[in-house]
Amino acid sequence: MHETGIYDGALVEREILRPTVAEIDLAQLAANYRAIQQAVAPARVMATIKANAYGHGLVPVGRYLAHQGVDYFAVAFVEEAQALRAAGIKTPILVFGGFLAEQIPQFLEHDLTITASSVEKLQQIDRVAAGLGRQARIHLKFDTGMGRVGVQYATAKTLLDAVADCTHCEIEGIYSHLATADEADLTHARLQAARFADILAYNQQCGNPTPRWRHLANSAAICQLPETHYDIVRAGILLYGVYPSPEVKRTVTVKPALRWRSRVVYFKIQPADHPVSYGSTWRHDQPARIVTVPVGYGDGYFRAISDRGKVLINGRRYPIVGRVCMDQFMVHIGQDSAYNGDEVILLGESDTGERITIEELSEWAGTIPYEILTNINGRVPRIYKETSDNRPQTSEGDLLSEV
Ligand SMILES: Cc1ncc(COP(=O)(O)O)c(C=O)c1O
Repeated sequence: MHETGIYDGALVEREILRPTVAEIDLAQLAANYRAIQQAVAPARVMATIKANAYGHGLVPVGRYLAHQGVDYFAVAFVEEAQALRAAGIKTPILVFGGFLAEQIPQFLEHDLTITASSVEKLQQIDRVAAGLGRQARIHLKFDTGMGRVGVQYATAKTLLDAVADCTHCEIEGIYSHLATADEADLTHARLQAARFADILAYNQQCGNPTPRWRHLANSAAICQLPETHYDIVRAGILLYGVYPSPEVKRTVTVKPALRWRSRVVYFKIQPADHPVSYGSTWRHDQPARIVTVPVGYGDGYFRAISDRGKVLINGRRYPIVGRVCMDQFMVHIGQDSAYNGDEVILLGESDTGERITIEELSEWAGTIPYEILTNINGRVPRIYKETSDNRPQTSEGDLLSEV
């Protein structure tokens, strides 16, 4: 089977052995990035590409967005940032997550921006940087109501006061994270925003310089809390064309950049009353036309959608019947026909304009779009396409490679 993808910077035809792929539309990714940038200007956009770029492929997405001129990347772990540096990406990278003292030299070596989420962590960084004769680039993290990492807003002064003694730390940013910006009731999010403003005011009173990057907004706040945009917004799920929740006001127009598809590999007519799949949970009182699709929970598809989910085959919607197995699942195609090789869409739009939305898939699986995307695992090949006129800027032939 031949697919057109971008490999080593060039659009080429090549053989993909697996009939199941996640197809990423790079032009759509670029369009989403531009839509967000336009919506938040003069603030800038920090592209959040942790967790394999929300399933879209860390290095290909990082390379592509770097070529689009993104100002900053964010990842969760130092290993993710290292992979981006190893791929030759020079854009600044903020690592959100917590770290152990022995990891600090890796941050410095790869010129990464470190989140200092306590006085102790800041001092540790300062000592290691001093020992290595380096200057560490730091974003201070405050907990204004998320209840995760960061210095509690009530004791924010302790961290801001400690800055003066840390001569090997450049405080480039101050940030906090919102817990409920994706809800219709924004009371708590606004309280967090007010606490963040207090922290910034105190920072000024201390005589500390105003850092270059003050940031608070995630995708939900990009859409519905403009007062949180500050100098840069941390765009995650919105970048990939997905809204954080059904309640979020869709003030920025984006479209999904990922389509998950496979092909029919088997067809048979099951006799009446013949059960389908593990547990024999489904049977039909008539002979049933059943096809098999070679995808399962071993790929990050969800067993929870057994007997609930739907897929598109040749652009028409059909129910998944019986349990989703590790490597395959079955679909009842009614009175219709389907042949080996026919297209199956698990997520996204078919050429006929029919679609399986990420919101539906999330509902069937009892989860949220974030988990659907990040769950698509490494057994599913990613292929990269451009479908609009907005071609990526290939330079030096190193834009993308298969993952
Ligand atoms: C600190 C931080 N900022 C921003 C984001 C991006 O969030 P979203 O994908 O909702 O835009 C995340 C993701 O979880 C995060 O942990």
